[in-house]
Amino acid sequence: MASIELVNDHLCIESKPGQTILDAALEHGINHVHACGGHAFCSTCRVRIEDGLENLNAKNEAETKLASKLGLPEEIRLACQSTPTGKVAARRLVLDKVDEDVIMQYGGSKEPRSLGEEKEASVLFVDIADYTAFTEKTPAYDVVHVLNRYFFIAGNIIKKYNGRIIDYYGDGFLAIFGLDDDPNHAGNLIKAGFALQDAIDEFDRDIHSLVDRDFKIRLGAHTGNVIWGTIGIEGMEKEAAIGDTVNFASRIEQANKDLNTKFLISEALFKKFEKWCTVSGAFEIKAKGKEGTHKVYALDRMMAPMPG
Ligand code: FES
Repeated sequence: MASIELVNDHLCIESKPGQTILDAALEHGINHVHACGGHAFCSTCRVRIEDGLENLNAKNEAETKLASKLGLPEEIRLACQSTPTGKVAARRLVLDKVDEDVIMQYGGSKEPRSLGEEKEASVLFVDIADYTAFTEKTPAYDVVHVLNRYFFIAGNIIKKYNGRIIDYYGDGFLAIFGLDDDPNHAGNLIKAGFALQDAIDEFDRDIHSLVDRDFKIRLGAHTGNVIWGTIGIEGMEKEAAIGDTVNFASRIEQANKDLNTKFLISEALFKKFEKWCTVSGAFEIKAKGKEGTHKVYALDRMMAPMPG
């Protein structure tokens, strides 16, 4: 006899042969959300299988299609398409009307949006050094003009190395390499970082004919897993990358200021490229929310030829 432990409900129920998790839960009076009526369209019935994944049927075509569209990991299954043949522990992930509305906010005729996907990627934060002083002493019109030129130059370099700028925040931006499964994401980030520095050095010389201010950038980078998905309400949504890798890359970038460095990278990233880059220093930094100290390296030059 197959059984289902409904983890959130602290309940263990039996399921009949051929019965889906959804049908068994509904039969036992559980308010298991199933907006599309069990047709593998909405994903609101999704559960995380915490134990016994091997005791479920393989995904059918409909579930495979929706799971791949939404980037669902293996352990997330549609309760309406999953039939236990043994013992399974499942946690419902859509618990109430708000959860359901978040998923279905594009309306009945449209499909739910991506839920987030884990990607191995490299993360680059770039900001403008002394931006506040720059804006205070520069007419607003010139600030916008300079920023537009800067973002144009930077954006094209990031694109050239298969990266993607996914956020702008005042004086900086966040670029991710590897969202398109580029196996050389780390190397491309390093190359883009050096190319960006060269381009901005030239840009700095150019803009002195326009404003009498220095224009310098600082870069911080790390590599690891990120969760990438869409956040925000309909009409105001944006793609976002979240997770420890992103937070740490941001902390590394911020450390440039105290260390008086320009391009700091994590040890994980450095270890991949130490043969191809020279460094001007190695430092131990503390990062908010992380224990202990962490080694970072100030990149100096790239030595050709670099792989990838
Ligand atoms: S109820 Fe809609 S996908 Fe399962």
